Amino acid sequence: MLIDSFGRIINYLRISVTDRCNLRCLYCVPLGGFPSADRPEILSYEEILLLVECFVELGVDKIRLTGGEPLIRKDLSILVRGLKNLHEIKDISLSTNGVHLAEQAEELFHAGLKRINVSLDTFDPDKFLRITGLKPHAKVLEGIEAAIRVGFYPIKINVVVLKGINDDEIASFVAFAMFHPVEIRFIELMPTRNCFLVGNDRFVSNDIIKDEVGQLAELIPEPILPGDVARGYRLGGGLGKIGFISSLTHSFCSECNRIRLRSDGILKLCLHGDETFDLRTPLRRGATKDELISLIQEAVMSKPKGHDFKGSDEDEPVTYMCQIGG
Ligand code: 5AD
Ligand code: SF4
Repeated sequence: MLIDSFGRIINYLRISVTDRCNLRCLYCVPLGGFPSADRPEILSYEEILLLVECFVELGVDKIRLTGGEPLIRKDLSILVRGLKNLHEIKDISLSTNGVHLAEQAEELFHAGLKRINVSLDTFDPDKFLRITGLKPHAKVLEGIEAAIRVGFYPIKINVVVLKGINDDEIASFVAFAMFHPVEIRFIELMPTRNCFLVGNDRFVSNDIIKDEVGQLAELIPEPILPGDVARGYRLGGGLGKIGFISSLTHSFCSECNRIRLRSDGILKLCLHGDETFDLRTPLRRGATKDELISLIQEAVMSKPKGHDFKGSDEDEPVTYMCQIGG
């Protein structure tokens, strides 16, 4: 088993397959950009699978593919197939911005991916341009429709609520969940260093959003699953669900079961801390599986107890949000 120095069992690995993205969300991408990894630094699918085999031997049974934007990496379904062949893995999922989802949904589904998270912060194309810096709003909606049609389940839609930008669209998201078999997940804005959204004055607490949703529809609580950071509700009389991820107002660090592998083979122990561990160098030097397993165990011991979101702008972050896909 993979246990950290605070007794938390780590069974969930998020794998970033690229640090590049075709959008520029203002809460995610840093001002002035960031240095993308050079191509040779990026792990091949074979290298990722070898590392995943080590994680699986340590008890990891839940994988999420992220980016940047994972669907801009070529032939992602090859990686999905490889993961699917590791039968100890119970759960494989993907976080995408949806721009290329319509084209790839069917292939990914047939490769064995069954569940998916799509980011969509607005139904308004002008606001989409303002938030993401680009225009392909209609493609994201087509991607969600395609995912429903192909049979992905569950489909979760990540909505970061920003005061004065999309906080007037809560009712539209609730209506969407009423009529589509999807879960809308409201995510509290997390402060990221040096990003386009300088300052934190766009923050809206999920308590406020939950009150608003509660006035529009009946919220029926779902059981809380271990390791799940969202609090989920069925919508009375609706097809879909509503979830709340309240990273700021309700910290879940004490139950954290996850670690992140960056596309360049660096293990990141906490979303907000700078603790990292290089797995690429030993991997490429030909370390055996047993050696890699020991290194992973050693790395996990440096997972911090939690975060306080107090990272200052002067600190140089080791990893940006857009390199690890949330
Ligand atoms: N605050 C909250 N969520 C964020 N994400 C990225 N940056 C932030 C942030 N600053 C999440 C979004 C997006 C996913 C890829 O990462 O939910 O959908
Ligand atoms: Fe937006 Fe996700 Fe791309 Fe960041 S990684 S810019 S949140 S689409």
